[in-house]
Amino acid sequence: RQYQTTPAVTNSGIPDYAFAFDIDGVLVRTSAPLPGASQALKHLQSERIPFILLTNGGGKSEEERVSDLQNKLDVELDTSMIVQSHTPFADLTDLHDKTVLVAGGDYDKCQLVAQKYGFKNVVTPGDIVFLDYYKSFAKPLPKPIIPHSTSEEALKIDAMFVYNDPRDWGLDAHIILDALLSESGYLGTVSKKNNNISLPNKGYLQDSQPPFYYSNPDMWWATSYHLSRLGQGGFTAAFDGLWSSVTGGAHLPKTIIGKPHQETYEFAERRLRAHRKQLFGQVGLNDPLRRVYMIGDNPESDIRGANNYRSPYGSQWTSVLIKTGVWKEGTEPAHKPHVVRENVLDAVRWAVEDAR
Ligand code: G3P
Ligand code: MG
Repeated sequence: RQYQTTPAVTNSGIPDYAFAFDIDGVLVRTSAPLPGASQALKHLQSERIPFILLTNGGGKSEEERVSDLQNKLDVELDTSMIVQSHTPFADLTDLHDKTVLVAGGDYDKCQLVAQKYGFKNVVTPGDIVFLDYYKSFAKPLPKPIIPHSTSEEALKIDAMFVYNDPRDWGLDAHIILDALLSESGYLGTVSKKNNNISLPNKGYLQDSQPPFYYSNPDMWWATSYHLSRLGQGGFTAAFDGLWSSVTGGAHLPKTIIGKPHQETYEFAERRLRAHRKQLFGQVGLNDPLRRVYMIGDNPESDIRGANNYRSPYGSQWTSVLIKTGVWKEGTEPAHKPHVVRENVLDAVRWAVEDAR
């Protein structure tokens, strides 16, 4: 059934609303497009209604994810329209010249992503496990495809990132733990303070710990399997247990970005506004973006984030929960959406009516 969209427009005819789409469980499940996804995006593009893709997924470059989605959904996209879990890390320019550990996902792909962001010295657990002083504890992985320029002497890790759901939880956890307990990030050392069990919290002290960033808090996500699968939040919970057991309950300072966090939604809105400006050329003060419809499948990230988001740019976000992903109909969503719809196409149909 065709439906007419007479979008709410500004004085210069620019739509005053837009969309943010979650990806996994909304547009695709692993490699399979979900019902109505292609039609929904094509419709918005034909009506020139701006949208971005806002995902806690990652582990590959924005270019590669966009290319995958273009093929699966038969829709023209570009990297200005996507925010992945780790995309905001590019802005940590004060770390671009430092040595950073990037754990999680496919090590070589995540290393390339970090390098694309401007990080010049990126090591992964796949590099480190090859170094002589590390070979003893873990069976070496197949030789990394890209000969990483990792020298043999003890590495000093200045910051640690988890870019995507770890594949080898044990290896990633062990190397992150080593760095956290080390003397100022020197792998292969143990901070003398951490040897002094008389100190409070068994010696954990923040001044010797490299900053630690996670990119995605999702405990569960929707794949082609019928049951939701553990996401990066599962690894975080496991590592918290490991840290607590090893240090006797010491505090572990960490930064977690991704949906539902305010900063991630602000980053996404800046991307959406830039994309809207790119779409319409000049967008003036008389062309406000008043409403953004967040279409998601996960109450914890998509719905909670949109409900709690307070835009510093003046837009109101409306959460729309759909039934094709993590949330299961008949269960009470932990965070109440503005509306529930069957799938992404129904959600878009509802929103374009709501926006009139
Ligand atoms: O790793 C991907 C998963 O955490 C969820 O991705 O697209 O549903 O935010 P998405
Ligand atoms: Mg999702």
